[in-house]
Amino acid sequence: MKELNRKTAMLTDSVIRRMTRLAMEYDAVNLSQGFPDFNPPECIMNRLAEIATVGPHQYTPTWGAYNYRAALAKKVGRCMGIPLDPDKNILATVGSTEAMMATLMAITNPGDKIVIFSPYFENYAAQSVFNSIEPVFVPLNPPAFTFDGAVLEAAMSDPKTKCLLLCNPSNPSGRVFTKDELQFIADLAIKYDVIVITDEVYEHIIFAPHVHTYIAALPGMWERTICCSSLSKTYSITGWRLGYIAANETLMNECKKVHDFLTVCAPSPLQEAVIPGLELPQSYYDEFAAEYTHKKDILANGLTDIGIRFSEPQGSYFMMIDISDFAHGRDDVTFCEDLCTKIGVAAVPGSSFFKENVNHMARVHFSKKDETLYEALNRLENIRKIYA
Ligand SMILES: Cc1ncc(COP(=O)(O)O)c(C=O)c1O
Repeated sequence: MKELNRKTAMLTDSVIRRMTRLAMEYDAVNLSQGFPDFNPPECIMNRLAEIATVGPHQYTPTWGAYNYRAALAKKVGRCMGIPLDPDKNILATVGSTEAMMATLMAITNPGDKIVIFSPYFENYAAQSVFNSIEPVFVPLNPPAFTFDGAVLEAAMSDPKTKCLLLCNPSNPSGRVFTKDELQFIADLAIKYDVIVITDEVYEHIIFAPHVHTYIAALPGMWERTICCSSLSKTYSITGWRLGYIAANETLMNECKKVHDFLTVCAPSPLQEAVIPGLELPQSYYDEFAAEYTHKKDILANGLTDIGIRFSEPQGSYFMMIDISDFAHGRDDVTFCEDLCTKIGVAAVPGSSFFKENVNHMARVHFSKKDETLYEALNRLENIRKIYA
């Protein structure tokens, strides 16, 4: 057989999704891949049921159904504080995964560099490989997950640096960047002519007193920011595969060209069904954040009682736990496999997120019913018995 694709040959399958398969095999409580085990808001489930008989069931215009883009423009514009035109500034994508891929394909050339904070969401490395761009990793140093400004400036000032990828709130660290940090990043982006691509899929899961700031809304940044986001997390619909890009018309026009040929359009019945969700009042987002604060506290209090150390997240539904007291010198991959198969709790080895040599952590998520979290904590009571 002739040589298959060299880029694909460089990739292994996703560690996160591999842990999910192991969790299913061993009937473990799955705190690895981040998705809810509870239902989306009723208004969108009811609308979905209606749509089954009346449609739409065919392609939408490639940029997304107009009423879906109009609802998105209103909701996203209100949150960001930027007036958005559904035709010029919004593109409906198949999850933020496609939004990110379309963006990178639209703005980068082979050999360009992309600045990524580490630890990072594993998709970014694979998407860099697919686009033949070189990631330059800037550490977010645990346990506070802050960055060194000089290290960031060195990466941003490289003439080959085309863009910076900002995951805020950050998966897996749970970091919510402060306005000062974002202003610092924005100043560098403007100084060195770097495009900022945001991944803000956890924008509504923020724990007080932290607040989410949209870097696109800082002075001079709408001109150079492409916002990639998702409805997966905010409306608990990870399987619907609905995401979007919000950007100025010039950058957007390039992204649209890629999207047209990459996926044609996002699922039409689901675009229509989610509109009542996009129209929910602010109280929905307040209650949503309060519910996740409650879930974080269940997990945090339980872990503290068991004696498992962790980094307190500021946002997102992830938490990094410190496994060094329990792994007895084993690496995090072996430990997470044993945690899953012997104790029945699936977590993701921390090393799959870090570029640096960090292997004393694991990522768990708390997007689960309270009883699921309590069951995970019951099982984690046995963590010291794994290697007994
Ligand atoms: C940081 C981050 N970005 C993007 C995604 C994927 O989002 P989507 O379901 O919209 O493709 C995830 C999913 O876990 C994520 O954690």
